[in-house]
Amino acid sequence: MNRRQFLITSTAASAMARLAHSQAGLRPLPLPPLTDLTGGINTRIPLALAPGRHDFGTGVLSDTFGINASYLGPVLRVKQGQTLPFDVRNVLDEVTTLHWHGLHIPGDVDGRPHQEIAPGGIWSPDVPIVQQASMNWFHSHTHGRTARQTYKGLAGLLLVEDDASLAADLPMTYGVDDFTLILQDKVFDGAGRLDYTLTSEVFEDGLQGETLVINGAVAPVGQTVPRGLVRLRILNACNARFLTLSMSTGPLYVIASEGGFLPSTVETETLLMSPGERYEVLVDMGLSASNSLRVSFGEGDGEGMLGLLGGLFGAESPLTALTLTHNAETGLSAAMPDRLATLGPAEASAAIRSRDFELQMDTGADLAALAAAWDNVCGGGAMAINGLPMNMERIDEEVRMGETEIWRISVDDMLHPFHIHGCSFRILTQNGAAPPAYAAGWKDMVHVEDSWSEVLVRFDYAAPKDAPYMYHCHILEHEDCGMMGQFTVT
Ligand code: C2O
Ligand code: CU
Ligand code: CU
Repeated sequence: MNRRQFLITSTAASAMARLAHSQAGLRPLPLPPLTDLTGGINTRIPLALAPGRHDFGTGVLSDTFGINASYLGPVLRVKQGQTLPFDVRNVLDEVTTLHWHGLHIPGDVDGRPHQEIAPGGIWSPDVPIVQQASMNWFHSHTHGRTARQTYKGLAGLLLVEDDASLAADLPMTYGVDDFTLILQDKVFDGAGRLDYTLTSEVFEDGLQGETLVINGAVAPVGQTVPRGLVRLRILNACNARFLTLSMSTGPLYVIASEGGFLPSTVETETLLMSPGERYEVLVDMGLSASNSLRVSFGEGDGEGMLGLLGGLFGAESPLTALTLTHNAETGLSAAMPDRLATLGPAEASAAIRSRDFELQMDTGADLAALAAAWDNVCGGGAMAINGLPMNMERIDEEVRMGETEIWRISVDDMLHPFHIHGCSFRILTQNGAAPPAYAAGWKDMVHVEDSWSEVLVRFDYAAPKDAPYMYHCHILEHEDCGMMGQFTVT
């Protein structure tokens, strides 16, 4: 029996075990509906952004937003070489947009803040998938409203496959040995309803919830799986929280970052994920009958002595987020893949130019007036990059297509995740040091706190003046407050 045949017979067992799990009291991991288009696309792809009512597991319905669902959106699985004919319909009673985070696509279909969809309106971009296998996502990018709209549920996953990824001996049966995890932190009020309140603290730090939610269900959740390798494709979709991941048994085996496979599997005890970051990991469920993914808020693993110190310095101890239990006494023995992809070193010498970006929180009254005048949402303050809050009418940088550059990012305070549209880049330095091995492949997120971070980047698609790309902090309240800029590629 090969892996594929084995999995088909295990699907029914998995469904029964899910039932058993819910009876045992561990909430089952929700599986967002999969739309698998890798076999071909013959109609337009409808995405309806609409209000919903959703029970996160608190026992009451919360007012949410969803995409073809009451909360969050579908998992779209597509293939390199396809063009995706989307019909994005706005069924909300407020203006919205939908950005394809991670896609290498021209500015005119990027879903940037200018591409507003009015209530009742429809946006129909044809989105070409040129890039290699990678884990991408889509979310609201509405000027001044991204944080609240994304928090309420306007986000979903877009998995790109290619010939190599489909032929690889990796788990890829969705809902059986291949799972997508959308990790978020939430605030619930005393009645158990989802809450989003903009206080001065939220404007400053971004929203920090105390409750971890996975695919729309309050953690911990459980899932039964076949014996053997299990693949977890993980997105940190928190508005502002960094997350540190670990396993209860053994290391994490990281196989891919945002823009594609790593050259080979990277073993790590802990994995730090900023908002907006994606990683794929394998869990060997041949080793023990059960293993759990653990998540702690903030940096550091919060264990032992470190945990004590971490507690003093604000890191929190890890929470069991997802427990995997294998459902078969016999199965395939797992073999961690060795070589995954060909990836050369990041050649800084290829850069012909460098640009500096300083993310600024410490701004004065003059900038607050500008931020407000330019429709940033700040609660009376301002955030900026290189001295100016976001202005939808201003182009901040002009880049030439096909030229390799170094972008150097620094901050005046706090830890921030930085994102660039229209590309994948390589991290040269993160916070003044070489990136961890799991972050040394293709990325579209990098973070910085002290010192600086440098990325090596090239843009291959057009983003003219009337269709520019964005770069910004991915703490969504910072983005809404003006920690964002625009650039053209010509
Ligand atoms: Cu995920 Cu410009 O955003
Ligand atoms: Cu993006
Ligand atoms: Cu920020």
